[in-house]
Amino acid sequence: MRIITILFALVALPVVAASPEAVQGKNGMVTSRSALASEVGVGILKSGGNAIDAAVATGFALAVTYPSAGNIGGGGFAVIRLENGEVLILDHRETAPGSASRDMYLDADGDVIRGLSTRTHKASGVPGTVDGLLLLLQHHGTKSRKEVMAPAILLAKDGFPLTRNLAAQFARVLQAMAPYPASKAKFSKNGTPYAAGDVWKQPDLAATLEEISKKGRDGFYKGRVAKLIVAEMQRGNGDISLADLADYRSVWREPIKGTYRGYDIWGMSPPSSGGVLIVQMLNMLEPYDVKALGWGSAQLIHLMVEAQRRAYADRAEHLGDSDFYNVPVATLTSKAYARKRFGDFDPDRASDSEAIGAGSWPEESAETTHFSVMDGKGNVVALTTTLNSGYGSKIVAAGSGILLNNEMNDFSIKKNVPNQFGLIGRVANAIEPGKRMLSSMSPTIVTKDGVPFLVTGSPGGSTIITTALQVIVNVIDHEMTLEDAVSLPRFHHQWKPDSISYGKHGISPDSLKILQQMGHRNLRAARWGRGFGDANSILYRDGVIYGMKDPRNEGAAIGY
Ligand code: GLY
Repeated sequence: MRIITILFALVALPVVAASPEAVQGKNGMVTSRSALASEVGVGILKSGGNAIDAAVATGFALAVTYPSAGNIGGGGFAVIRLENGEVLILDHRETAPGSASRDMYLDADGDVIRGLSTRTHKASGVPGTVDGLLLLLQHHGTKSRKEVMAPAILLAKDGFPLTRNLAAQFARVLQAMAPYPASKAKFSKNGTPYAAGDVWKQPDLAATLEEISKKGRDGFYKGRVAKLIVAEMQRGNGDISLADLADYRSVWREPIKGTYRGYDIWGMSPPSSGGVLIVQMLNMLEPYDVKALGWGSAQLIHLMVEAQRRAYADRAEHLGDSDFYNVPVATLTSKAYARKRFGDFDPDRASDSEAIGAGSWPEESAETTHFSVMDGKGNVVALTTTLNSGYGSKIVAAGSGILLNNEMNDFSIKKNVPNQFGLIGRVANAIEPGKRMLSSMSPTIVTKDGVPFLVTGSPGGSTIITTALQVIVNVIDHEMTLEDAVSLPRFHHQWKPDSISYGKHGISPDSLKILQQMGHRNLRAARWGRGFGDANSILYRDGVIYGMKDPRNEGAAIGY
């Protein structure tokens, strides 16, 4: 009862509301999209856990308190830096089911069947989150599964009062969930939307989490919960089988390592495109005096857009799951390649992404979520997790409380046909059984002389990578405070469509004019808010840990 009282009080605490100030701490910090989940993580730190314990607890809590993207039915990536200086990355991305095939989303004429890879049971990849979080805990945590999962179970069982934002999200998504009784039952009161302040309980999810807490990965990938997921698949002609679930394994991979102006950049390797592209773009920028060009100047936006254009073109051609396709990682991340690739950069003229009309991608990034954790010993976690679209496929596996992902849309379902983020791909990212779909998730840790410096990442589909890039450049080149680096408007170009999207007020009218004179086309301001991304970040400087939640959304940085 006492914990619940604390949880209720937390929702009302002013420190949890959007704050333009970075939070400071000496002993630990968690910054995430959900104030309750950040509080869970900090509670674990305060009880003697390390950053890995706190990240696992935060991850499970997000599955309860931020269901749009926090999940146990999806997947993610973690970049961790241990107190001994070692940097490790864990890939717990979903895999294509064993029965998947390259053309599974095409009709007899070879055309894409609309919605099949996004809004149906067939949209789901085999979830990796539970295996990933448990593996992180097992290898580098100090606390028991029971301890780190207890807060999430409590939040699911006893419920918590819905914020205005969450209640509004549930109301918006209700129509898409209408065909699925278990989804409707979980996210509404028999079809009537919840209101802000209503206490939302998730008994089925609580039971599932309890099963995982007791049995470990077998509590999800085998037995009752696995059977519920497969039964749901069978109800909707989905593909995930009991064997797919039993066979799922996360993978420790070699991190992407780059350098930028004396800092070390540690990112996620394929099947993420994030680490490769961030290092590639930083390599392209390094020869230029970014600071002198000045934040917001047309010259700098032009320089960065041209780097983005080339990097995203390479993404479409070369990036995919490196277990299935020979991704030229070393080449793409080398300084020599960046010099050559950027050799045709003209400081006065936009280059041409081939003449195509402007496409579109989402302005607001409800999908995916990123959180950052640091403890007082120098253990650091950058973790990005996703169901792909907000609320994934919108399908809850009946009886389990688990929302299923629609990650299969991140594959190139047809060569050169854009996915929901407008990203195109080719053979490198074609569907194969057991393969992981290419991701843009970019959890990133920056160190200086072996000491943690910056922890960042973001949701936002294709814009994830350029969001992380801009936070890094803002801090390193423009020497911004963390609050400015995270809060200021951002811009994005992804080669195709040939278009610059930018946060409201992010490009001044005279810069816009200069960019247009240079030949940039389709400059599009976000219609409302400050545009894309939710870069919950941490900066460590002079013995102080600064935590900043992105002011574009709810959430909290909590430190002590
Ligand atoms: N589902 C978004 C991403 O992984 O890039």
